[in-house]
Amino acid sequence: MKIRFAKSFSTRSKSDCLIIPFVNEKNNVKVVSKLKKLSSSIELPIELKDFSGKKGEVLFIYVNNDKENRLLFLGLGDDEITFDNIRYAYGEAIKACIEKKLKRISILLPEIENCDEDKLLLASIEGVLLSNYVFSKLKSEEKKYPLENLCVISANKINRKIVDRVKTISTGVYFARDLINNNADEETPAHLASVAKSLSKISSKLTVNVFDKKWIAKQDMGLVLAVSKGSNNSPYFVVAKYKGNPSSKDHTVFVGKGVTYDTGGLSLKPSTGMEDMKTDMSGAATILSTLYTVAKLDMKVNVTVVFPAVENAIGPNSYKPGDVYESYDGKTVEVVNTDAEGRLILADALSYAIDNLSPTRIVNVASLTGAVSIALGDEVAGLMASDDELAMRLEHASGETGEYIWRLPLFFEYLKTLKSDIADIKNVGKRKGATIISALFLNEFVKKSKVPWAHLDIGGTNYTLQKKGYYPKYATGFGVRLLIEFLEGIISDFS
Ligand code: BES
Ligand code: ZN
Repeated sequence: MKIRFAKSFSTRSKSDCLIIPFVNEKNNVKVVSKLKKLSSSIELPIELKDFSGKKGEVLFIYVNNDKENRLLFLGLGDDEITFDNIRYAYGEAIKACIEKKLKRISILLPEIENCDEDKLLLASIEGVLLSNYVFSKLKSEEKKYPLENLCVISANKINRKIVDRVKTISTGVYFARDLINNNADEETPAHLASVAKSLSKISSKLTVNVFDKKWIAKQDMGLVLAVSKGSNNSPYFVVAKYKGNPSSKDHTVFVGKGVTYDTGGLSLKPSTGMEDMKTDMSGAATILSTLYTVAKLDMKVNVTVVFPAVENAIGPNSYKPGDVYESYDGKTVEVVNTDAEGRLILADALSYAIDNLSPTRIVNVASLTGAVSIALGDEVAGLMASDDELAMRLEHASGETGEYIWRLPLFFEYLKTLKSDIADIKNVGKRKGATIISALFLNEFVKKSKVPWAHLDIGGTNYTLQKKGYYPKYATGFGVRLLIEFLEGIISDFS
C-alpha cells in the first residue's frame, strides 16, 4: 500500500472515501481535527442522532465533492479516548471500506488536546495497516491486500520514523497470521523449521539452528519424541539467536509451542473444534514473527527463540495414555491425556533453554489450554509468572499495545493434582483451574533454575471466528506487538 501525506485539507488526494474521526464529549458529537469543519448540510446524521461517535461506529455519507464521493464518519468513543480505541476504530473504518471494495482511502488524523501526537499517529496508522489484511493463498484466485493508496491528512509534522516502524511491525504481524492460517499439511514441523532457517537471510546478527529427530533423540528430549511418535512428519527443534547488543550479557529467551496440528492423539479431540487445531503452532509463530520484526527493526537487544515443532497425530505409533516418558531434565511424566501435549514439548524446550542458553529471563508463549478462554474470553491472554518484575514488564507492554493480558496466580495448592503414583508427575490434573495447572506443570521444569519466567497462554486470543476492530477473521497475530514493546522496555532500561 502506498502512503502519502497531505499537510492541508485542500491538498488531499482524490480517493474513494474520506474518513473523518469524531468523539462524543458529554453528548456533544464533534470532529477531532483542526482541518475539517463540517458544513451544516452533512451534520444531519448527528442532529438526527443517527451517528453518536461511539467507539468503532461507522457511517457512510454520500457527497458531491471533487476529491471523493464518500465520507465515512468514524466514532472514536466517548469521554475517555484511549489509543487502543483509536486503533480499533480505524480498524473498523478500514474493514467497512474493504467490504465496499474501496481501494483509495484518505484519513484525517485525529487531533486531541493533551494527547501525544506521535501516539495518535501510531495508533491510527496501526489500526489501518492491521486491518488491511486478507489470507487468500488457499483461494483459487489469490488476492492482494485490499487497500492500494492511503492519503494521511494532518496539519502536524508527520513523524515518518513512526510510520516506517508501524509498517515493519504490521509486516511482522502479517507474517504470524500467514503462518497460522496456512494449511497444517503444508505448515509441517519441517516447513516451520525451514521458515525459521530462512530468517537468517534478514540480518547478519541472526543465527538459526534447526535440529532434526536424531539430534532430539541424542539430547534425550523424551517428551518431544513421545508427542511426535504418531506422525509421519518428523519433529524439529529450532534455536534462533539474534545478537543485537553483543557487549551486553542481557539475554531474553522466548520459548514457543509449535504443534503444527493437534488431533489430541489417542485421547482424540471431538470433531467440533478440531478444525481450528492448525493454529496450535501460534506460540512458535508469534515468537518467530517477533524475531523477524526485531531483525527488521535492527533492535539493540539479545534475544533467542526456541521452539519444538511437532505434529500431535493419531496412528499405530502414537504415544499412549497411561505410559510414562522421561523428560530432558530426567523427570518422568505419566501421560494421562495425550491432548495435553503442549506442556510436554515445552517442558523439554524450557529445560534445554535453561541448560544451554544462559537466559536472563524466559517468556513462554503457547496456545496451551482451551480453559484460558473460559476464564478470560477471547480478547485477553493469560499471564502466569514466577517473577513480579517480569510480569509487570509484560503488563506494561500490554497497556501500550492493546494486546490484553491478565495475570492468573501460580496457585501452588493445585500442584498436588499433578501427583502421580507411578511417575514423578502427571501431565494433567483437575479440569477446574486447568490453565493455572498447566502453568504449574511448566514451572516444575523451570523453578530450580530461579530464572525469571513468564508464560502467556494465547489459547483464546490467537484466532477469532469474528472480525473485530483491527483483527481479521481467524489468525490474529496476537503477541507480536506485545513482545516487541516488551523488548523496547528492556532496551530502554538497560541502555
Ligand atoms: N491446543 C490445545 C489447547 C486449545 C484448545 C487451544 C482449544 C485453543 C482452543 C491443547 O493442546 C489442549 O488440547 N489442551 C487441553 C488440555 C486438557 C487435556 C487438560 C484442553 O485445553 O482441553
Ligand atoms: Zn492438545
